[in-house]
Amino acid sequence: MTDTTPEIRKGLAGVVVDTTAISKVNPATNSLLYRGYPVQELAEHCSVEEVALLLWTGELPTPDELAAFEAEERAGRALAPQVRDAITRAPLTAHPMDVVRTAISVHGEIDPDTADASPEADLRKAKRLFAAVPAMVALDQRRRHGLDEIAPREDLDYSANLLWMTFGTELTEAEIDVFRVSMVLYAEHSFNASTFTARVVTSTMSDLHSAVVAAVGALKGPLHGGANEAVMHMFDEIGDASAAVAWLDEALASKRKIMGFGHRVYKNGDSRVPTMKAALDRLIAERGRDDLLALYDTLGDAMAERKGILPNLDYPSGPAYHLLGFDTPTFTPLFVASRVMGWTAHIMEQAAANALIRPLSAYDGPEQRHVPQAVSV
Ligand code: ACO
Repeated sequence: MTDTTPEIRKGLAGVVVDTTAISKVNPATNSLLYRGYPVQELAEHCSVEEVALLLWTGELPTPDELAAFEAEERAGRALAPQVRDAITRAPLTAHPMDVVRTAISVHGEIDPDTADASPEADLRKAKRLFAAVPAMVALDQRRRHGLDEIAPREDLDYSANLLWMTFGTELTEAEIDVFRVSMVLYAEHSFNASTFTARVVTSTMSDLHSAVVAAVGALKGPLHGGANEAVMHMFDEIGDASAAVAWLDEALASKRKIMGFGHRVYKNGDSRVPTMKAALDRLIAERGRDDLLALYDTLGDAMAERKGILPNLDYPSGPAYHLLGFDTPTFTPLFVASRVMGWTAHIMEQAAANALIRPLSAYDGPEQRHVPQAVSV
């Protein structure tokens, strides 16, 4: 690098672009705090609805605040006809992430506050979107099996209702709890790629739904949220534990990225993994799926030994969603249902202290040249 060459931080690795009060990731202590609270404590003690209010407002709700929000959320779960149509008319060849992206876009078009960018309106929009995404995800999985939509149930909380709308059967308390834990853990993670995308869109003074739609697009990629789906495809490809080590050696030899491993920020393990792995273990024990546990552990141990690279949250959440009964392509839309909390919190934080996000680039194309005279137009 010469004195005149700007320093380029590929992928913005290590670059601090702004402050945030929403979450703190500390790789040195392997910790993740939402508004100051360790995510493990939130996963142990809080409902998804409490975590949503915490992320949006900065504080855990009082019992009255929580009850008011729960009533609001339960009343906002049913899909508008336009959103339902957008989902049911989507070709079955469309990936569920494409369907939920379109459904959120339509939901934005008809939101009563769509033209109002005030902080109060943005919070109302965030709450309505949070309430509606589970029905989008559930309906899309059901229609792919030729099944009818199931109406939301106001007697169930967020987690139990999402499972009810998807499967139409009451899952056990233990199963609902595993799902709740995953939703809490996926809710927020500072300036990850999709959240940063949402902040970039917001920084142009665009609207909340446009920012969320863009974030869904960023989340879809297998280097980000798409990895939870990719983990299950990988498990299917490997088959069982006895084939895991040979499969891994071949995959690494051909320079494949092993899905569900590695992280841009955590280099000594993802702070969320132990909590999600414990939840997965409970589910595996309930279902007697020791074969899946053996595959999970064998591959994880071999990856640590070969590359020193540890699992990220997508590694335990993928098999957990599989055991709960979700189709593999539905896994990343479940991540959307949860991350909508973090995205919208960041959209509101960005809008409240906005600066257009517009980095520079270092040009490395041809020097200035001129169009030859002979070129015709
Ligand atoms: N499999 C194989 N090798 C890996 C993996 C992996 N999963 N992750 C990192 N490495 C290797 C790289 O090949 C590279 O090796 P090299 O120095 O010999 O070239 C080194 O580790 C550094 O990796 P980078 O890709 O430069 O690390 P980066 O911080 O850019 O990537 C990422 C992080 C994208 C998450 C990467 O680890 C990856 O692709 N993982 C698989 C996809 C995945 O699980 N994504 C989910 C992210 S977490 C989430 O969204 C909840």
